[in-house]
Amino acid sequence: MFGKRSYGVIAVGILLVMTLFLLLFGSRLFTDIEEEAHITQENRIVVGVSQLGSESGWRTANTESVQNAFTQQNGYFLIFHNARQKQENQLKAIRSFISQRVDYIIFSPVVETGWETVLQEAKEAGIPVILMDRKVDVEDESLYVTCVGSDFEEEGEKAGHWLEGELVRQNRSSQSVNIVILAGTEGSSSQIGRSAGFATVADRHGNWNILEEKCAEFTSTKGKEVMKTFLRRYPDIDVVVSQNDDMTFGAIEAIKESGRTVGVNGDIMIISYDALGDALEMVADGAINVDIECNPNQGEYLLEVIDMLEAEEPIEKRYYVEEDVFTIENVTEEVLNGRTY
Ligand code: AHR
Repeated sequence: MFGKRSYGVIAVGILLVMTLFLLLFGSRLFTDIEEEAHITQENRIVVGVSQLGSESGWRTANTESVQNAFTQQNGYFLIFHNARQKQENQLKAIRSFISQRVDYIIFSPVVETGWETVLQEAKEAGIPVILMDRKVDVEDESLYVTCVGSDFEEEGEKAGHWLEGELVRQNRSSQSVNIVILAGTEGSSSQIGRSAGFATVADRHGNWNILEEKCAEFTSTKGKEVMKTFLRRYPDIDVVVSQNDDMTFGAIEAIKESGRTVGVNGDIMIISYDALGDALEMVADGAINVDIECNPNQGEYLLEVIDMLEAEEPIEKRYYVEEDVFTIENVTEEVLNGRTY
């Protein structure tokens, strides 16, 4: 058999053969992989998405909808960024999309103001910007191509109209009604629109007292914290308007802990927004009186918009998603089973 020395010679031989193979074919192999990756990306539409954060169940559903739409199978290469509620992070993300020369930028602005400069930079780079969910407040509307989202002012009015009807039904339309409002992120389109829409209806009723409107940042923790303050400050609250379901979950906890009851047969009426599955269960149980739907499934709408842009078809400046209003009367088993978020 072989001695130690023979093993050494064989090992050196194998090493030499491998080095020769790599020298001859290795560089070719790596170039092929790089080229393939480049071609794969080149044949796809590159979309940079700046999501504003992950503050709520609604936001998680919205993110999933976008990620499910812009897949490689659908012909897209998605660069996704989560800004964690910070406008400066969104500005950085958008600038990085511009320097990567993406084909489209989609972003959900955390607040409405402060976007002119970065949008101008995108325009100069020839990259179309599509707004998702929320709007921007800019003088020059050519800085973005379109906006896909909800009509937040209408959502606010829907909440007001529901309360009008409910007070008539309860024979309380001429009595004084004390209202507190848990508001979402200050300066965001959803907060601005919902507050304004509800105020339009409230202004018509001298007996509706809005005791206080306070920001609870669209989160459950803050919703609970702010609700506790309201309960300490105002002993006779009749209605809570909570601008999203996450804040509602926290607020209901605080109300129950204070010994009061909520909903259809409770001390305090609850008006909520979003219509997440868990919240609809609470509507069905009578704990939430009404839930104004805000539809997070915007990925499909965005796909259609980009299809139209690719086909050079004219597009509208605003696309509204479809939304409903849920009370104990129309939250059926079918609605509950069909809810994916
Ligand atoms: O802008 C949409 C709002 O943002 C949703 O109502 C809320 O849940 C989210 O955080």
